[in-house]
Formats: sequence, C-alpha cells, structure tokens
Amino acid sequence: MNHQSPPLASLPIGVFDSGVGGLSILREIRRQLPREDLVYLADTHNLPYGPRSLAEVFGFSRAITGFFLELPVKMVVVACNTASAASLKQLRLLFPAIPFVGMEPAVKPAAHDSQTGKVGVLATAATFQGELYESVVERFAREVKVIQQPCPGLADFIEANAPAYPGIEQILHPWLAPLLAAGIDHLVLACTHYSLVKEEIQRLVGPGVKVIDPSPAIARRVGQVLAERGELAPAGGKTLFLATGAPAAFAAAAGAILGEKVLAQSAAPAFPPGSLDKSS
Ligand code: DGL
Repeated sequence: MNHQSPPLASLPIGVFDSGVGGLSILREIRRQLPREDLVYLADTHNLPYGPRSLAEVFGFSRAITGFFLELPVKMVVVACNTASAASLKQLRLLFPAIPFVGMEPAVKPAAHDSQTGKVGVLATAATFQGELYESVVERFAREVKVIQQPCPGLADFIEANAPAYPGIEQILHPWLAPLLAAGIDHLVLACTHYSLVKEEIQRLVGPGVKVIDPSPAIARRVGQVLAERGELAPAGGKTLFLATGAPAAFAAAAGAILGEKVLAQSAAPAFPPGSLDKSS
C-alpha cells in the first residue's frame, strides 16, 4: 500500500468546458460544496465545441479526462452540454473507476410543468445532434412540443464579452422571438455558456416564460454522488484554473465572471493528432 497517496476524499474534482461556460457549474459547486478543491480546465484552444462534429469533441473529452486522471482527481464534471452529448456514455465505459457528472438538457422539469404544452430548448448545434438529446425528449417530453433552437456564435460572444455582454439583446432576439410566438412557457438552457446570461434571457422572454438553468441541480448531483461514495472533502476550497489556449485571456474573462482575481496556468492534454485545427 502506498502511504504517500492522499485519501480519495481530499483529491480535487476536475471540471471542464470549452471555455468560460462551465464556470456557471463551478460557481454552484463552490456555493454548495465549499470544502471541495476544484480543477477547472477551459479547452479554449479548441473553442467553440458547438460547430464541431461529435467525434471530434469526444476526442477532446477523452484527452481531458486522461489528463485529469493523471493529476489525479476523484470525479470528472463534464460542465459542457456539447461534450456531454458527444462523450458522456463512452467516457463512463472507458474510465469505469471514476465517477462522471454530466449535463443533460433539463427537458424533464420543463415538460412536466408546462401549461401551454410547448417548451423551447437553447443549445449548440452539436448538442441537438447527439443521441442524449433525442433520448431525453423521447423519455420525458412525449406529451409536449419541444422546439429546439441552436444559437450559433452565442458561446463565442459570451466568451468575448463577459461579464457585461453589450448588445446581447439584438443577438438573442431572432432566436427567442419565434419561440415566444410559438407559445412556449418554459425555456431550457442546454449550453453552460447560456447560463451565464440567464438574467438577460429571462428579461427578454418576460415573466410568462420560466427559464430553466440546470446549474444548481448539477451541483447537487455532484454532492450526492460524492456523499454516496464517502468522498466528500473534509476541508479545502481551492480552485486551480487551467486553459489549453492563452491562460491570461481566460483568466481575465473568468475573473470578470466570478468577480475575483483568477490566475490560470497552461495545460496540454494529449489531444488526438490532427484534431486541433478548427478547419481540419
Ligand atoms: N459550453 C458548451 C456547452 O455547454 C459549449 C459551447 C461551445 O464551445 O460551443 O455546450
């Protein structure tokens, strides 16, 4: 037995996204589980994930998980709907020893509570292509009309304009207007970047539409899984920030979103060869 290795409970939780979007999840985990140490990895070199193929995003997720396991971490939170759609199922099969918590579009509560029988979902194009989305709609939303709305370029805009997002109303309007015209009464945010602009979205859709942000539920799930495994941290609360692209640019955006001074380091997971260029 190796007496040098720290007990599992004291290890950090690895959290990743393509960029700042997963900070919406990180923020909630910190709020609910303040004793946990966290490692947040922003794959800004490969941002955005949304327009890429699911196979490509799976390659990134697998490499980041491998990188996390080397650190090591006690759990991986896939704080990205696109990466969850592309890889959650396969990651659980590939790495059975480590627990994963991922994003699933929160169509279930929306469908359950809808009075108009119409709910909207905002996500990246890739998320809508995944079988995870299809199965969620199939399992939980047979009785309602689910209207899917991709928002190309929105994650990049959020990344570049945090935390004030000037002009976001004009960007969101063409996507939200048809959903409102169709009569939705629930709007599911199924991209972690979009949770960062929840208030702006709520303002635009008005009080008659409930905007569903899954971040608190995801953080609760993290706590439940750790508690079940007896792996809740006894003490801690530090966050290490890593970025695969320029660390200073990520640190500036993350600091503005979290309202604290963020220092980020460079990280280089072993990404599959040939997958790093957006045009490839
Ligand atoms: N934050 C991500 C998601 O939840 C991905 C955004 C992007 O990189 O396109 O889907």
